[in-house]
Amino acid sequence: MKSIKIEAKFDVFENLEEVSSEIQNLMNNAIEARRKAYAPYSKFQVGVAILLENGEIITGSNQENASFPAGLCAERTAIHYAGAKYPDTKITTLAISAASQINNTITPVPPCGACRQAIAEYEVKQSSPIEIYFMGSTGKVVRSESLENLLPLMFDKTVL
Ligand code: THU
Repeated sequence: MKSIKIEAKFDVFENLEEVSSEIQNLMNNAIEARRKAYAPYSKFQVGVAILLENGEIITGSNQENASFPAGLCAERTAIHYAGAKYPDTKITTLAISAASQINNTITPVPPCGACRQAIAEYEVKQSSPIEIYFMGSTGKVVRSESLENLLPLMFDKTVL
């Protein structure tokens, strides 16, 4: 028997002003998208902005449904649209902002497990890392240099 140790590294910025102006702009797009979320059940609004290598920004927000499992997270709404609209264009960066309408969301909100899996598919497809930034409604911003860093031992096409 042997043990393997996998390390994950995250950069933590004190606030949005601390990141580059390009990322501030991307996150501001995510915040704008968040305000368009359809989240009448959870009252938890999530916005995502995706930067493509051609400079285009794709945004999305969570879309809920009275039949709860039929709803979709912001990350998957946005990344599947990016994949559908620009199938041959690489994704450079993905920014997430989440805000509860009930509580003050100051803790950075990472993508859920299902969304990590969905983003991982595109990272493997394009053979280059997708940088992820995530935050709450205000406060700290966390950066992951890739999706793989957020999903060790990922399930991908190599195991099929
Ligand atoms: N949600 C997202 O949009 N992204 C995530 O990564 C986690 C959760 C949404 C789904 C649902 O509409 C609400 O947040 C509460 O779970």
